[in-house]
This record gives sequence, structure tokens and C-alpha cells, in this order.
Amino acid sequence: MPTILTSVKASQRLDSRGKPTVQVEVETRDGKFRAIVPSGASKGDYEAIELRDGGEAYGGNGVEQAVRNVQEIIGPALSGRQFDLELGLKDVDYFMIKLDGSSDKSDLGANAILGVSMACARACAAAKKIPLYDFLASELQSRHKEYVVPVPFFNVLNGGVHSGNTMAFQEFMIAPTGAASITQGIQWAAEVYQALKSIIIKKFGKAAIGIGDEGGFAPPITRPSEALDLIMAAIEAAGHEGRFRIGIDPASSEFYRDGDYDLGFKSDTPQRYTSTELADLYRSLVDKYPIVLLEDPFAQDDWDSWKSFHIISKLANIELVGDDLLATNIRRIEMAAKADACDSLLLKINQIGTISEAIAAAERAYELGWSVFVSHRSGETTDDFIADLTVAIGCGHLKSGAPCRGERVAKYNRLMDIEEELEARNLGSSYAGESFRHAHS
Ligand code: PGA
Ligand code: ZN
Repeated sequence: MPTILTSVKASQRLDSRGKPTVQVEVETRDGKFRAIVPSGASKGDYEAIELRDGGEAYGGNGVEQAVRNVQEIIGPALSGRQFDLELGLKDVDYFMIKLDGSSDKSDLGANAILGVSMACARACAAAKKIPLYDFLASELQSRHKEYVVPVPFFNVLNGGVHSGNTMAFQEFMIAPTGAASITQGIQWAAEVYQALKSIIIKKFGKAAIGIGDEGGFAPPITRPSEALDLIMAAIEAAGHEGRFRIGIDPASSEFYRDGDYDLGFKSDTPQRYTSTELADLYRSLVDKYPIVLLEDPFAQDDWDSWKSFHIISKLANIELVGDDLLATNIRRIEMAAKADACDSLLLKINQIGTISEAIAAAERAYELGWSVFVSHRSGETTDDFIADLTVAIGCGHLKSGAPCRGERVAKYNRLMDIEEELEARNLGSSYAGESFRHAHS
């Protein structure tokens, strides 16, 4: 007897910024399976389109149309096809892509389609009576032998469009590469986070410990070196010197202005950098701090800057990650490969809109010899889907914000559950540690 969908429902719920998002619930004979869709703030131009209603309610951010598209179009169409979920997710996803018919999912909405894709993945896993990470791993063309537990990159200082300070760079991340397990790495990061809080109170007063969209602190600082000095001091104060590496996501498309970069875009005084000057700034930071990863150092269409900086980043052994540049889209990945513009894919499931396409993007990145870095969005929910996805594709690292705020720690907590479960199942898993970039190979 095949496992078919007996019902597909959607509802409007809230994300971590208090903005509406799509929740989907599918039903099979195994039970009900839910998913809630995330949403970005520093969105790239090449992402799949999430439908927003416009109008008065929720300042135009309602998702009632996307909800109706699930209830009235996608649900009935899927039910009519009677897909056997024991055979996997691809047929469901590629059917929805066809049903939408657009190149960017703007017809039915990437938020509608992704919610169904995620919920159906959970239903597929239940049909096969296996954990979600096992199911998602079975969807890969080329299975890796052993599970790898990822290194979490914790965004402990928030800037850019995720906070109200004048820091232009969006994310300063700490990665416990020296830990023996993710459980230990999370403990260390939580200790550094608390030390950072004390240092911020001492330096800027208690009013400065407000946090940004991803749970990191947002003290009144402007220069990237100020952020990095605070982080280094916190690592030292927590007694974890030498155990962490650092990643930065400037999210530079947000401050790209007519060919230059305005690091003063959040203040009244412009601070214009040419791309060469910005590259020099990155170089000076890389020389001084234990930075191993740079994401979107240049804007999504500033190909020449990406290309010339990639030569430098390779020499310095820095992972160069494309977020807005690639938008988890194979067409953009091919463009970047041709241009030799970067060597790592930031994987955000809602940038492309189905789990099958996200997995295909990761596999294409691997074929190119790249690494893959899984990511949450700044507008999140307590849905922990990406924890399972990261383990399934074996990519060795993910970012899910600070070790703080329910929607951020949901993913880290799930990863600790998975680590324990893999041990109990004797599956010979390992923590990616220093080899986070090439954990899959
Ligand atoms: P976003 O931020 O979800 O607001 O796009 C995350 C990122 O830029 O990586
Ligand atoms: Zn980014």
C-alpha cells in the first residue's frame, strides 16, 4: 500500500520578527506533519519570490494568498496525483515546480511551495520509519559513508540590517572548531556569549546589551575591528583561547551604492569605500584575526571584485561563501564557477523554494569541489528542519545565529539530539571540527 497525502492544510502564523509566515500541515496514514517557512531581511535579488499580500494588514506583509495557494491549488493537485511518499520527495517537488510554472516561483509563491516541501519531507521520513536526517541523506545522488556533525557558526554580534547600531557589517560569527563534539562546542560558545555580555556591560553600560534579529548583541560600535576585538576579549575571558575561528558576513549588497560600498549607510555620514579599499580592509582583518570564512564580501553583481578577491582568499585559505551572489540557485552557481568567483555555497532553503532543489544545489557545489554552508534566515521560527538537512548533506558547518533566542537555539538543540542519537545508534559519526570545509569528501 503506497503512503499518500490525505490532507494538505496551510495557515498564517508569525516568524521571529513578528511578521506573518506560512505554516503547512500534511497528513498521511502515519500522522500529521508540520513545517513553518523562514524569511530573510537582507534578501538577494536572485532569490525565489515569497508572496506578500500588500494592503493594510500586517503592514502589507500578510501571506494569506500563499496560504490559499496551498489550500486551493497545491493541496488538491498533489492529492489528485496520489504520489507514494515512500518513493521520496523529488516527484512531489518537481511536480510543484511545474505547477507553479514560473522561473522564480512567483506564481504560487516560494513560501507556499517550500512549506509543502518541508512538511512532505517529514511525511516521507515517517513513511519509511526513519529519522528526517536519514531520509534527507537518502535523497542525495551520492551518499556519504559516515555522518558528520557540523561546526556551528554563532552570530554573536549583529549589525547591518539586522540591528539598530551603526555597524555596517551584518554578522560576526564564532566557530568552536577546537571542540570534540557539537555539545562541547555549544557549551563553549554559550560561555563566550555570556562573557561578551559582561564585557559589553562594562564598556558601554547595561543599556547596550540589546540583541539583533539573530540573537547577537548590537552594541554601539561602527568599525569591524571593534567587533572583532570584543569577540577576542570574550573568548579569552571565557578561557577558550585558540579554540574558536571567526566568520564574517558583511552582507555587502545592502551597502553597495553606485559602484562603491558605503560603510556609513546606517549613520548620517557616508563612508565610501571602493571595492579595492574594501578588499584591503578585509585583508587587514584576515591578517590580524583568526578569520576562516567570508560571506558576501562584495555585492551580488560585482563579479570583478569577487573574482580578484578569490585569488587572495585562496592564498589566505579563507572560505569564500556566496549568499546573495548564488541564491542557492544552480544557474548562479554555474555562473560563479565559470568566473571562479567563490568556493562555497551558502544554502538557504527558501532562496530556492524546494528541498529537492536545495539538495541538488549542494551536490552541484560538491561536484565543483566547493564547500557548502547551511543557513537559517534572520526571520526564523522554531522549526528545526535545517539541523537535519545539515547532517544529511554532511557539509560540516551551519549558521543559525547566536546561542540565544528560541528560534536560533531550536536548531542547535536539535543538533545535540542528533549527535546523541547517532552515538546511540553506533553510526560512527564525527564532529567536523577543523575540517568543516571539506567534511563531505
Ligand atoms: P537574511 O540574513 O536572512 O536577512 O538574508 C542572513 C544572511 O545574509 O546570511
Ligand atoms: Zn549572508
